[in-house]
Amino acid sequence: MAQDDSSGTDIVAADSSHAAHPTAAPGTAVIATDAFENPGFPPHRPRVTDENPQREKRAQRTVYTLFYLSILGSVWAIAAYMLFPIESNDVGAVRLNNMFFGLGATLALLGIGFGVVHWGKAVMTDVELVDERHPIGGSPETQAAAAKVFADADRESGFTRRAVIRNSLIGALIAFPLPAVVLFRGFAPQDELPVELLSHTMWQKGTRLALDPSGAPIKASDVTIGSAFHVIPEGLQDLEHGRLEEKAKAAVLLMRLNPDELNEKADRVGWSYDGIVAYSKICTHVGCPVALYEQHTHHLLCPCHQSQFDVANHCEVIFGPAARPLPQLPITVDDEGYLVAQSDFTEPVGPSFWERS
Ligand code: FES
Repeated sequence: MAQDDSSGTDIVAADSSHAAHPTAAPGTAVIATDAFENPGFPPHRPRVTDENPQREKRAQRTVYTLFYLSILGSVWAIAAYMLFPIESNDVGAVRLNNMFFGLGATLALLGIGFGVVHWGKAVMTDVELVDERHPIGGSPETQAAAAKVFADADRESGFTRRAVIRNSLIGALIAFPLPAVVLFRGFAPQDELPVELLSHTMWQKGTRLALDPSGAPIKASDVTIGSAFHVIPEGLQDLEHGRLEEKAKAAVLLMRLNPDELNEKADRVGWSYDGIVAYSKICTHVGCPVALYEQHTHHLLCPCHQSQFDVANHCEVIFGPAARPLPQLPITVDDEGYLVAQSDFTEPVGPSFWERS
């Protein structure tokens, strides 16, 4: 750090190499020169498009062709979303919709990206510039220089002069967000809400409880105290369409407790069978599968946000963000000893949506 002594000599720092500067007065420091020379720029190498007007024209054509391809990709993404609807309850249709929409969006993005890069590398003016460091500030000279930079950039890139390239880029940028509008239109308020769809599941009176994923029906005698089973309605695996949608609503957890530890609500007496209870597996917070059962405490844990439900006390919420207990599936056994549902759930499963009264 520089200091000023009484003799007016600038003392910069102790210089261990003072012996190398015998002309300097003793006791003064000598500023070492920068050890590195500025190497400067390598010789300028003109590009092929700088020397050959034909190649430059070809590069321009490539650039606006890429932008047009981007527009095509955006239009195709919209068309694909309409042509391959996902409302058909068919996983294959969902895959087709995603694939063709994704191909269009990819083409739209790549068209703009490659077009801009190729424009910069092959068509814009190719000169080396030195931008010296300077204080940050907005003096009139700086502002004038900034305006000149923009003017130079405009002149060198040809943004206003090369109208086809500019307009095709503007078109690509306008077209690109349109697929997103189509994609997210489902979030708009709707007049008709699918209440029925969300209020009912595959369970009905007499439907056997079956193991997930084998689909084998479960006998009450198979369920020992302390055990827990992941359960689906029998016949779910045979559905040709909408299997996943039905499973997402009908998945159930089956547990057996000592009947003495079960604290059943007065209006739910008879919903369990000899200590065996069935509750929806779909968390009432935001719908994750509740999959962790602690048999000593009889607690169910949702791994997403750690909501906990007490199986011994009609699955009431004892911790976490879930707002209501897991819905209970009333069960009994049939003549052959298999566990069966007494009815569908008596309330909507899953998160507390607007359809709940
Ligand atoms: Fe279960 Fe959030 S989804 S706690």
